[in-house]
Amino acid sequence: MLVNTRDMLKRAKEEKYAICQFNINNLEWTRFILEECEINKAPVILGVSYGASKYMGGFNTVFNMVEALIKDLNITIPVALHLDHGVDFQSCKEAIDVGFTSVMIDASKNPLNKNIEITKKVVDYAKTFDVSVEAEIGHIGGEEDGITGNILYAEVEDCISLVKETNIDSLAPALGSVHGIYKGEPNLEFNRMLEIKEKTNIPLVLHGASGIPESDIQKAINRGIAKININTELQIGWSTEVRSFLNSNPNVYDPRLIIKAGESVFKNIVKEKLILTGSANRF
Ligand code: 13P
Repeated sequence: MLVNTRDMLKRAKEEKYAICQFNINNLEWTRFILEECEINKAPVILGVSYGASKYMGGFNTVFNMVEALIKDLNITIPVALHLDHGVDFQSCKEAIDVGFTSVMIDASKNPLNKNIEITKKVVDYAKTFDVSVEAEIGHIGGEEDGITGNILYAEVEDCISLVKETNIDSLAPALGSVHGIYKGEPNLEFNRMLEIKEKTNIPLVLHGASGIPESDIQKAINRGIAKININTELQIGWSTEVRSFLNSNPNVYDPRLIIKAGESVFKNIVKEKLILTGSANRF
């Protein structure tokens, strides 16, 4: 069932576990994620970046593909279809208009007052369609859709203002995580995370969760993280397996066999994350 993220994140926050957002890049990955989450009875968020949506054909294609897979695969768990890092009002509006149930507006490159203004505009529009909204503050580092940036830690007071002024449903404060592969050890600001949780009282989101040690993920969940985002670990796991399959099977050319070669490794990563975050068996 397609739903927004409000209830799943509220419950995760109250019961101290985290919902997984797995990013999708094609039909097969979407099917792998839905099937594995259904087996594990875990509510899930399918994250789609603007670049990934363009790659797949556009928001409309993605929405219809996800809706059809839920139906054809008899998926019963709650599934949210979420725009990841919507860069402006227009891209969030386009996703909402075709049926996405959740959007992230990432206006974090702007000064606080502008971030608030853009985020509020998205929230006002989204609320009419019962779509949930996530916003970012500070700057999560690393590479996303080909854009590279340095970490800029979120300030507690800015988080409070953004939440109060906009009425968002969840907040992604930059606290040391990066998108993509970590150079060195991740260094998360756990004290600030807890302070932001206590002062804003909304579900917090950890971007760039690939490569963060399990103990840090658990610490983060205890300090208010109710959603973690995973993309790179799935990409590395799947592509490593497919590369090795192609090397050992140079005569295979059926794309179904090639893509499928990464299925069980991919699904294992999904399962590990569901167990780690405590979101398995919540439905
Ligand atoms: P990773 O690619 O580092 O897993 O991050 C995913 C993410 O945060 C998507 O917004």
